[in-house]
Amino acid sequence: MRVILVTGKGGVGKTTVAAATAVAAADRGHRVLVSSTDPAHSLADAVGVPLGDVESEIFPLLSGQQIDTQSQLDRHWGSIRDQIMQVFDWGGVTGIEAEEFLVFPGMDELFALLEVDRQARSGDYDVIVVDCAPTAETLRLLSLPEVLSWYFERVMPAERRLMKAARPLLTRLTDLPIAEDNVYQAAQSVFEGVEKVKALLADPQTTSARLVVNPEKMVIDEARRTFTYLALFGYGVDSVVINRVLPDAVSDPYFDRWRSIQKGHLDTIDSGFADVPRLRLRLFDDEMVGVEKLRLMADELYGSKDPITGFTAKSPFKVTEKAGEIVMEMKVPFVERGDVDVFRHGSELFLQVGPYRRSFVLPDTLRRRQVTRAKLEKGVLRVSFGAAPARKRAKK
Ligand SMILES: Nc1ncnc2c1ncn2[C@@H]1O[C@H](COP(=O)(O)OP(=O)(O)O)[C@@H](O)[C@H]1O
Ligand SMILES: [Mg+2]
Repeated sequence: MRVILVTGKGGVGKTTVAAATAVAAADRGHRVLVSSTDPAHSLADAVGVPLGDVESEIFPLLSGQQIDTQSQLDRHWGSIRDQIMQVFDWGGVTGIEAEEFLVFPGMDELFALLEVDRQARSGDYDVIVVDCAPTAETLRLLSLPEVLSWYFERVMPAERRLMKAARPLLTRLTDLPIAEDNVYQAAQSVFEGVEKVKALLADPQTTSARLVVNPEKMVIDEARRTFTYLALFGYGVDSVVINRVLPDAVSDPYFDRWRSIQKGHLDTIDSGFADVPRLRLRLFDDEMVGVEKLRLMADELYGSKDPITGFTAKSPFKVTEKAGEIVMEMKVPFVERGDVDVFRHGSELFLQVGPYRRSFVLPDTLRRRQVTRAKLEKGVLRVSFGAAPARKRAKK
């Protein structure tokens, strides 16, 4: 089972590349689902077949689905939302104001990922190609499982215990709407779902990201940031697809300047992403819509290579032990020392890169050790845990 997350800035060709990849994978005999989590659906247009929230066949071996994020949200979050609404109502907060509190940014995509997870576990497919929302959204969403599980792990069980004990008393004393057990159950099941999605997506054997770029400055800058943040959250990138490259056949002098600009950017991409396979795709002279056109694109993109088994990402993490010292090694390319912060708080290690923060709950073996060093060198961050039988906690 493989999951390929196709991501990149808006308009670079994510949907087209996702669809072409899915077609090529199905042509090689894999059972494939191509699934769009981007609320701005254009997957159906790309494949030239109507698609809905429930998967439908594009051709034997290939199915497609445009996940309706709103209905996923209602399904999973409905009872929780109703409860919070009641409390708001009680407090005099109503309408749009209250609604806005209830749906946090990136939440709809989180629920779309629950659906991807369900499909991945259904046993119906060998490959799921996910046509993701543009970069920033995806990143927010990737950090969400961390944030949410942090919240649920710490707050929910305690709150639930408290509420169980206090409910009889509270309902007698006030008319404050108290959450019924089913609300906690819904929250619990969202939490468990998120944990499963996390496990699915963070396993580099199963999931890898395919980054689509164009030879344009702003697109490349954003792709580098995405690359870094993907590493931070533990997602491996299996390849970079460079889309819309001017073909050599274009000889019109009008494009000379464009060609030299693209050449500069192509060099930047080649050196910046030297560790991952880079695939080029030319700018076609036609609208690349429908299965036949996508097949043509996939041929140029992958040639004789299998678009799935031919590509695996390496895990951005490594843990090694040397002379009693344990070193956590992590690739964080494209960052300067000043952008990275490592600190420890109790049993958690926090890694901050730019605006993104990830917390690692340390296993027992590391919990008892102190962080002795954190060093960033050539895009690799090494956090060393000393052998000291540390009784005291490491300083922040
Ligand atoms: N290599 C290409 N040559 C020609 N047209 C392309 C190419 N790649 C993408 N397109 C077209 O560009 C438009 C945007 O592509 P799309 O895949 O929808 O981008 P995204 O999903 O990243 O927003 C579509 O009309 C698509 O057919
Ligand atoms: Mg798209």
